[in-house]
Formats: sequence, structure tokens, C-alpha cells
Amino acid sequence: MTPPAHVAIIMDGNGRWAKARGLPRLAGHKAGVEALRKTVRAASAQGIRWLTVYAFSSENWSRPKSEVSDLMGLLKLFIRRDLAELHQNGVRVRIVGDRVGLKPDIAALLDEAETLTAGNVAINLVIAFNYGSRDEIVRAVRKIAEQAVAGQIAPNEISAETFAAALDTSDIPDPDLVIRTSGEMRLSNFLLWQAAYSEFVFMPCYWPDFTSEHLAEALEQFAARERRFGGLAARGVAS
Ligand code: FPP
Repeated sequence: MTPPAHVAIIMDGNGRWAKARGLPRLAGHKAGVEALRKTVRAASAQGIRWLTVYAFSSENWSRPKSEVSDLMGLLKLFIRRDLAELHQNGVRVRIVGDRVGLKPDIAALLDEAETLTAGNVAINLVIAFNYGSRDEIVRAVRKIAEQAVAGQIAPNEISAETFAAALDTSDIPDPDLVIRTSGEMRLSNFLLWQAAYSEFVFMPCYWPDFTSEHLAEALEQFAARERRFGGLAARGVAS
């Protein structure tokens, strides 16, 4: 079974996982980071080339200040503690989302993770941080509008390709499979443009409980899907 090249995950349910155990939400997010570590290893072992995870959305700023600061702290800890190991294992780290307005220490860590791992080829770990699809699309539109005003692009030269090239994901392939945990069935402003032809697998387990077996199950469901990309037959199959 050929695995999908790009799997994107909405890691949902940390809070409910913690609540079910009478623990603070932070405990759920910490367990979520552990699940993320295991998932990167499992995805790499499965031969997945791109793994994108939704770590902090542009809407997550509306959570209580203490939770926002906990999530920022966990990201910093994740990069500080795990970067060397990720690098050793050939993981290339990429960040998508708006960097403007992030605290300088966070922005510096994100830059460091990308720079250190830029030459790695085992698997690409794309962390969507301060990411929201609508925000990404608006920033892309602004970029193109600025190019148009500067006379660098004519309106009739704007195509799906030139537009995609202005997104944060410009050199990242579209996700083949999007997984969301916790039983919620929505996209929540994640990769709206990029997921146009993605397959979706929704799993009831909370993110901290996600294991390599869940990933394997999602890949099996993906393998059973027929992708037509708007056409009549599966790509590459003549009929
Ligand atoms: C959803 O759970 C999860 C998040 C908002 C953030 C995901 C973050 C992590 C897995 C840890 C941090 C990641 C990195 C890379 C350091 P929720 O809080 O919405 O859960 P709920 O819906 O049950 O309340």
C-alpha cells in the first residue's frame, strides 16, 4: 500500500481528554505534545513524506490568557527539547502561519528550527502555528495586489497556480489526507484552499490517545477511497 504523500492532522480533544481525567487543560496539551512526538515517528516509519499539524490557530488567541501562554510555552519547550532529535532523525521542520506579531523569542525559535533542519529529507514536519486559512488567503491576496500595483503582474496573469504560490504553503504539496481527532467533523479554518481534493478521516479518539494504530487505520481508510479530482475515474486509470 503506497502511503499518501501528505497527511495533515487537526489534533483536537486535548481539553476533553484532560477533563475526562479531572486534570487541568494544560495536562491535556502536554499529553498532546507526546502524541505528536509519537506520530512524527510513526508517520516517518509509514513512509509519509509530509506531515502537517495544526498546533495553534489564529483564532486560538481568544482562549484565556493563561491557556495561550501555556500553549506558547509548550511550543517553545517542544522546539528546545525535541529539535536536536528531530534533526538527528532527518526531519525537516517547516512553519506555516503568520509570523508577524509573534513574540521575538518564539519567532527566533521557529526560524532556528527551519534553518537547522533545512537540509533534511526523511520527512517534512509542517507546524501550522498562528495559522488560519482565511488569514493566509488574505495575506496572499495582499501580496498579489501589491505586485499588481507595482506592475509586476497583470490581473489576467493571476491563476490558481500564481495564487497558490503566494500562500504560506507555496512549496508544499496539497494534503492527500486530512485527519481530525475527537469526533468533531469540520475543518476549522485549516488548509481551506489546499484541502480542495483531500480525503477526510474523522476519528473519535481524543488527540492525546492517538497512536500509530490510529494512523495505520486512517491510512487504510484512505487506501480504500477512490480519488477522482473532479473527473470520472481514479487518476491514472483509463476507462
Ligand atoms: C485542540 O485541543 C488542540 C489545540 C488547540 C492545540 C494542539 C496543541 C498541541 C497538540 C500541543 C502543542 C503543540 C506543539 C507543536 C507544541 P482543544 O484544546 O481544542 O481540546 P478540546 O476541544 O477538547 O477543548
